[in-house]
Amino acid sequence: MTVQLGTNIYRGNETPILLKDQDRLRHMYMLGKTGVGKSTVFQNMCLQDILNHRGVCFIDPHGESISWILKRIPKSHMENVILFDPSDAENPFGLNLLEASEERERDFLVAQVIEIFYKIFDPEKTGVIGPQFEHWLRSAALTVMAGPEGGSLLEIPKLFIDKRFELKKRQYVKDPMVQDFWQKQMASTSDFHKSEMLNYFTSKFGHFLNNRLMRNIIGQRKSSFSFEKILDGEKVLLVDLSKGKLGDMNAQMLGLILVAKLQAAVLKRSAVPAEKRYPFYLYVDEFQNMVTDAFASMLSESRKYGLGVHLTNQYFAQLPVKMQEAVLGNVGTLMAFEIGAEDAESLSKEFYPLKKQDFVDLPKYNFFIKLLIDGKTSNPFSGVSLPPVAEGSDNVHSIKLLNSLAYGLPAPLVEEEIADFMK
Ligand SMILES: Nc1ncnc2c1ncn2[C@@H]1O[C@H](COP(=O)(O)OP(=O)(O)OP(=O)(O)O)[C@@H](O)[C@H]1O
Ligand SMILES: [Mg+2]
Repeated sequence: MTVQLGTNIYRGNETPILLKDQDRLRHMYMLGKTGVGKSTVFQNMCLQDILNHRGVCFIDPHGESISWILKRIPKSHMENVILFDPSDAENPFGLNLLEASEERERDFLVAQVIEIFYKIFDPEKTGVIGPQFEHWLRSAALTVMAGPEGGSLLEIPKLFIDKRFELKKRQYVKDPMVQDFWQKQMASTSDFHKSEMLNYFTSKFGHFLNNRLMRNIIGQRKSSFSFEKILDGEKVLLVDLSKGKLGDMNAQMLGLILVAKLQAAVLKRSAVPAEKRYPFYLYVDEFQNMVTDAFASMLSESRKYGLGVHLTNQYFAQLPVKMQEAVLGNVGTLMAFEIGAEDAESLSKEFYPLKKQDFVDLPKYNFFIKLLIDGKTSNPFSGVSLPPVAEGSDNVHSIKLLNSLAYGLPAPLVEEEIADFMK
């Protein structure tokens, strides 16, 4: 099966530009200035995927793409849709980063917690988050996860301020390193140093946990949906991360958690026989805030397990160097609309023999592409993107209602539960 990205027009002949399933698993990166039509390309692709019963996840930092897609989902496909709208205060979904069913997954997620904190608070790794914070965070996360009921991010800072709570959670810890952390290291840490670290913890976690919307989402121990089921059931997960009600940092946190959880589920697919690993497609718009460097460098592995990633943003130079290298080194299909002079300089090397000026002069909706075809990269050629698909039947209200009933929990219930396990 294929998805259409746009149309090539050569001497009056129009040819659809198609990307095959297998080639999509080698990922796609799209670049272009504001207003050139990037989000529209993803929206059109995602809609084709939905209509073709493909499994997809679309992470949208603005919310506009999600409402666009929702307005075009026919009744017959409604049941497959999971709409995650974190601004729904009445029926919050649960999203627990620290939920693991096996040891390897647990270790992967704990490493992700640390990556996420670096990404949000210290992306250049200047020492704002140092080895000591990492160590405390790792030990605390493993402690929270040790018990039969598991635990959430919300419980991490509490471990350091409530001895009784610490002992309650610690009783399940089998890992001798973690036991040592509490029994020896913490016991011999001076109160002054402890309170210094604690302030540090509280200030970092406070961003998320003092916001009622966030607390009710990432504080729940059981996530509302399982990424494994989404992957294998070819479901459609639409994530609306518009910052209005959430704030920048909270939206970013949720995006990072979702990508980490998706990645964890993908890695578990090594246990699923290859013929049963249905391709699954992830779209991340303005991806630079939503994925960690580690995610980008794991792209080559994701392919093996059937995850095809589609990324876009406005400026290449804005990405951390490691991310730039990982993206260029790992994506099979590269697409560029009009870009700024600086980006044109670095990208034109990828698009040889095109020149810098070719990218700076591109009219809206026009692009150059190096397309992966049966595992081989084509020479660069030009294309025009598809205009936005017209609106279809309006099932938005029913989709929203079905979703909050199926996946959300009433806020008072969630708050009661959280208060209960924070005792
Ligand atoms: N091929 C097309 N033909 C006609 N209109 C288009 C086409 N592609 C996009 N548009 C329209 O152009 C406008 C900008 O498109 P879009 O939002 O996709 O740009 P963008 O590159 O994502 O911009 P930003 O970086 O600001 O998010 C939208 O109103 C969209 O409907
Ligand atoms: Mg856009």
